[in-house]
Amino acid sequence: MTDSSVPAANPSEKPRILIVGNSGQLGRELERMFAGVGPIVAVNRESVDMADPDRLREVVRHAAPDVILNAAAYTAVDRAESEMALAHAINALAPRVLAEEAAERNALLIHFSTDYVFDGSKQGSWTETDAPAPLNVYGASKLAGEQAIQNSRARHLIFRTSWVYGPHGKNFLLTMLRLARERDRLSIVDDQIGAPTSSLALARATHAIVTGALAGRFGSPQDWSGLYHMTCAGSVSWFGFAQAIFTRAANQLGAKSPELTPIATKDYPTAAARPRNSVLSNEKLRARFGVELPTWQSALDEVISSLQQTSESETSGSE
Ligand SMILES: NC(=O)c1ccc[n+]([C@@H]2O[C@H](COP(=O)([O-])OP(=O)(O)OC[C@H]3O[C@@H](n4cnc5c(N)ncnc54)[C@H](OP(=O)(O)O)[C@@H]3O)[C@@H](O)[C@H]2O)c1
Repeated sequence: MTDSSVPAANPSEKPRILIVGNSGQLGRELERMFAGVGPIVAVNRESVDMADPDRLREVVRHAAPDVILNAAAYTAVDRAESEMALAHAINALAPRVLAEEAAERNALLIHFSTDYVFDGSKQGSWTETDAPAPLNVYGASKLAGEQAIQNSRARHLIFRTSWVYGPHGKNFLLTMLRLARERDRLSIVDDQIGAPTSSLALARATHAIVTGALAGRFGSPQDWSGLYHMTCAGSVSWFGFAQAIFTRAANQLGAKSPELTPIATKDYPTAAARPRNSVLSNEKLRARFGVELPTWQSALDEVISSLQQTSESETSGSE
């Protein structure tokens, strides 16, 4: 095998893809997006507990993948403060196992990490060369996962992303829409700034980069293997994001708009501390792969439209 492309044992064959965590927000979209790329084995908690390294190895060996997409993670940021060992097992040890198995079979490992590896103290956007200094257990466990992959021999792409939301799963957008049905007033933190990133935009960009890499369009893996920031463009506070959600939801979903009050982080105590500014620079991603994600506003438009379509088809289906 030459070093100019990544997988498959027989280059004329489509790459075999293993998606870990396909019940999550991102995993679900990745499974849809990669459907035509090659045969997919998609696994969730029912077939593998990420905290069980032996079982995880077994699953990877059985799937015999050329590409591993790891969308599984312990993402309960506040609960992680009291479940440090479990967060570490899923976010740090499991990625290490995946990297070892990927290296063993010369597979490409795609992994996702977080803006919460940073402490939020920077004025501008964070680059890949800025020093991480996580403020919470979740961020520390995700950083350890990145490092385990970087220290392995596996060809890899680690995409650090932020404020992930989409039409499915547990996320800020769906929580806001639920709260709007239950309450007339909401207080939302206005002094944490980040880039809301839709699972749809994330999966689409991942697809573009991985298929390009598999086709050898970006040169040899030594040229592109590594860590990249991958978020929607622009930035906003949680309060600003909530405002944008309710404006669109009122127009397109007929949702009730609660009265919003901006509050400071100190007035909304949580178990885990969070960075004030976690905006990531996407310049390295753009320069290396020519891929740019949409603005957070247009990604939000797309997700709200998809919710609108779902609700319309449910309504027409129930008639
Ligand atoms: N969500 C965010 O705001 C955010 C921000 C920055 C970075 N990220 C990163 O982006 C990636 C995707 O996040 P996401 O929002 O799509 O996560 P998510 O919706 O919480 O999904 C996590 C996935 O991991 C699975 N999982 C968790 N514990 C498991 C275990 N013990 N065994 C097997 N599977 C387990 C979940 O399975 P179940 O469905 O059965 O629980 C689910 O499929 C992650 O790497 C995350 O760290 C997320």
